[in-house]
Amino acid sequence: MSIPMHQACDFVLFGAKGDLAMRKLFPALFQLDKANLLNPKSKIIGVARTEHDQAGFVEAVKETLDRFLKAGEMSDAEWQRFAARLDYVQVDMTKPEDFKKISAKLDASRVMVNYLATPPSVFGDICKNLSSAELINEQTRIVLEKPIGHDLASSKVINDTVATYFKEDRIYRIDHYLGKETVQNLLALRFANNLFGSQWHNSAIDHVQITVSETVGLEGRWSYYDKVGQMRDMVQNHLLQLLCMVAMNPPSKLDADSIRDEKVRVLKALHPITSENVTKRAVRGQYAAGSINGSAVVGYAQEDGAQKANSNTETFVSLRVNVDNWRWAGVPFYLRTGKRMPAKMTEIVIVYKNNPHFIFDPKQRDIVNNRLVIRLQPEEGIRLHVVTKQLDLQQGMNLQNRALNLNFGEDDPNHRTPDAYERLLLESMVGDQSLFVRRDEIEASWAWCDQLIDAWKEVGDEVKPYNAGTWGPIGSIALIERDGRSWHE
Ligand code: BG6
Repeated sequence: MSIPMHQACDFVLFGAKGDLAMRKLFPALFQLDKANLLNPKSKIIGVARTEHDQAGFVEAVKETLDRFLKAGEMSDAEWQRFAARLDYVQVDMTKPEDFKKISAKLDASRVMVNYLATPPSVFGDICKNLSSAELINEQTRIVLEKPIGHDLASSKVINDTVATYFKEDRIYRIDHYLGKETVQNLLALRFANNLFGSQWHNSAIDHVQITVSETVGLEGRWSYYDKVGQMRDMVQNHLLQLLCMVAMNPPSKLDADSIRDEKVRVLKALHPITSENVTKRAVRGQYAAGSINGSAVVGYAQEDGAQKANSNTETFVSLRVNVDNWRWAGVPFYLRTGKRMPAKMTEIVIVYKNNPHFIFDPKQRDIVNNRLVIRLQPEEGIRLHVVTKQLDLQQGMNLQNRALNLNFGEDDPNHRTPDAYERLLLESMVGDQSLFVRRDEIEASWAWCDQLIDAWKEVGDEVKPYNAGTWGPIGSIALIERDGRSWHE
């Protein structure tokens, strides 16, 4: 299916010299251009405080592409075409007069898409100054990077400020997990396959597990991260978004608001975790020294830039979450996410109930375990564990658990999984909000997380240590084993 080309854009990238822009956004924009997905007339205007002439900025982008693209991914002709789109404006975000310089670069025939890869503290200034330079019209869009707030109150302040200048249907809040191929594939899996669609509820499913693990530590971000922790950095956004994609009811249509309406319903149905139940439902951990892939690594308190030896900030969270609705009553969702774990992996596991009556040798009961494993990264794919008879002439029926395996990368040896940002940048230019987070979603998610974070404070929860290179504190294993279940290996 070919996609009609979107209207030409002036893609204005605030924070163009920052880490995100250099590491992720310029490589993603280049890949879109290379794949002929950018309108030939679209321009990319970098905006930052750094003093640069046009040539110096283009050179900096070239360096970043050389560094972050794979060898051979960029030909000279491709680079020349991309470079011709680039422009640069030096702007102090707090100075209204500087925004006139942006205006000189724009063309009224193009839609202005403002991408704020800046700290949220300057979102307000940027919006105000775009407005006073008369750069906002009915078409103008704004794309916001996380974090949108630290809690519900601060996210409301940011949302209110942005809403003064932009209508909700022009605001694109990024959660880059929604741009990952397999997350979108979840929609296809659930809503295009009756086999799964008809068995997606508490009569068929025993429980769901969502794991987002990383091997990295803080990589120079200690002082920022210590004020945030894994609950705000990963659970409030990425894990809850994945949970929504698994748990939502089928939207009546595939448009942005139908999908987001269903996700909000899930967020509002999350059973509160309060001081009453927090010790049974949630575990916080912090990594101590250990080893990852055979190399020794230091603990959280010894990381570069660590400012205190006894921080109570969590680098690991595991939760048992219930969704209080008809479809999911009695089906726990176990979530876990952490830094310095044994592998970098994002996986959703749907564990099915067993048949009510077992007619085979009771000793084989443990083999029977239908699971649908949805792998987001690495090696995107879907595996369905099914039970079959072993091929042999032995007496009786010897069962085995085998996997039907769908490995997306294997189908095409030249396959390249697009980075999540490629999809999201493209959608922001096309003007489709389906993969962006609506205000009520982010606020419902903060409301639930705030309650949990407050509960930890109320009960005086202390982080539990785990050695780097392990799957988190022992309490995380107990959290699921208490229910007679175990984490998927
Ligand atoms: C970011 C978090 O949102 O996601 C980081 O702030 C985390 O702490 C990153 O490392 C993980 O993203 P990915 O795509 O590498 O799984």
